[in-house]
Amino acid sequence: MSLNNTHEIDIVKTSSSKINSVDFETLSFGSTFTDHMLVCDFREGKWGKPVIKPYEPFLLDPSAKVFHYGQAIFEGMKAYKDDNDEVWLFRPDQNLDRFNKSAVRMAMPEVDDWIFLEGLKQLVDIERDWVKKGLGNTLYIRPFMIAIGSGVIAAPSTQYRFMIIMSPAKSYYSGEVKVIIAEHFSRAANGGIGAAKAAGNYSAQFYPTKLANEKGFQQIIWTDDATHTKLEEAGTMNVFFRINDTLFTAPVSERILDGVTRKSLIALAQHEGIKVEERSVYVDEIINAAKDGSLKEIFGAGTAAVVNPIVGFSYQDTYYELPKLENSIALQLKDKLTKVQYNMAEDSFGWTVKV
Ligand code: COI
Repeated sequence: MSLNNTHEIDIVKTSSSKINSVDFETLSFGSTFTDHMLVCDFREGKWGKPVIKPYEPFLLDPSAKVFHYGQAIFEGMKAYKDDNDEVWLFRPDQNLDRFNKSAVRMAMPEVDDWIFLEGLKQLVDIERDWVKKGLGNTLYIRPFMIAIGSGVIAAPSTQYRFMIIMSPAKSYYSGEVKVIIAEHFSRAANGGIGAAKAAGNYSAQFYPTKLANEKGFQQIIWTDDATHTKLEEAGTMNVFFRINDTLFTAPVSERILDGVTRKSLIALAQHEGIKVEERSVYVDEIINAAKDGSLKEIFGAGTAAVVNPIVGFSYQDTYYELPKLENSIALQLKDKLTKVQYNMAEDSFGWTVKV
């Protein structure tokens, strides 16, 4: 796929890059940002001209609706560098599509395709030195939109800001990941905003996740709000369960995010002849499979987390340890996926886009 450069973006470059002050070996996820950002405002019913400018704070009215009603959405994407110094994006069209679906659900304007895709491409191009070579080195990209219109009346804003910021990153989780299966808290409910990448979906998880962290667990696997019997999604990722040699993952729904990594893994697994079932996965069946030894793996899948094996889980205060496998499907799929992303293997699905 190639992106057309038919629209204009203003570019104001910084005179002093901070890249030389960054230690790329000891990055903590999402805490260092590149020199530039993209900004584009929506006013009087239309998007203005995007500008790429030095990364800096900006002022907002204290009554801006993003502060009061959380009218905010975001995406997570990455850029990768291959051995020939070429920089690649992975399925940016999918992020654009989901971003605009999130916008509709949050009563925000859809962003023009070219602003998102061309803006992304030009911003990454300007920051290509921030994308380091080698598996595991990435540039994490965070497009987002906030309601900047002022006034605390509880109604959608008429003014919005679309931005892209970028952060060099290694892995999201630094150690082993153990999870708690939720018995009381939920991530989302039917009719709610679970399928949107809305900021509030993530902050709502902070408190239950903090409780899990205090017990020594890194994440929660959410169960459905109505019955708490179906396993849905983890805090920062979709979840896969391997029983014997079949993978199971919950179908996308009003409650579950349509993950780009999730759908890419399903396609790669099926291409490899691995059976994948998208269907409700029940707590009971996972507990029984853990007890009889047929539960081989659980892993999370997300842009930030990539493919993250889960070493064990707790349910009703009983801890179930997962076996350590020689033939992990999670690691096999991670290898396939990352080799496509870093242009180290044939991209038979046409997913990668050169910057
Ligand atoms: C991502 O994986 O990119 C996400 O958006 C999850 C985020 C909470 C880190």
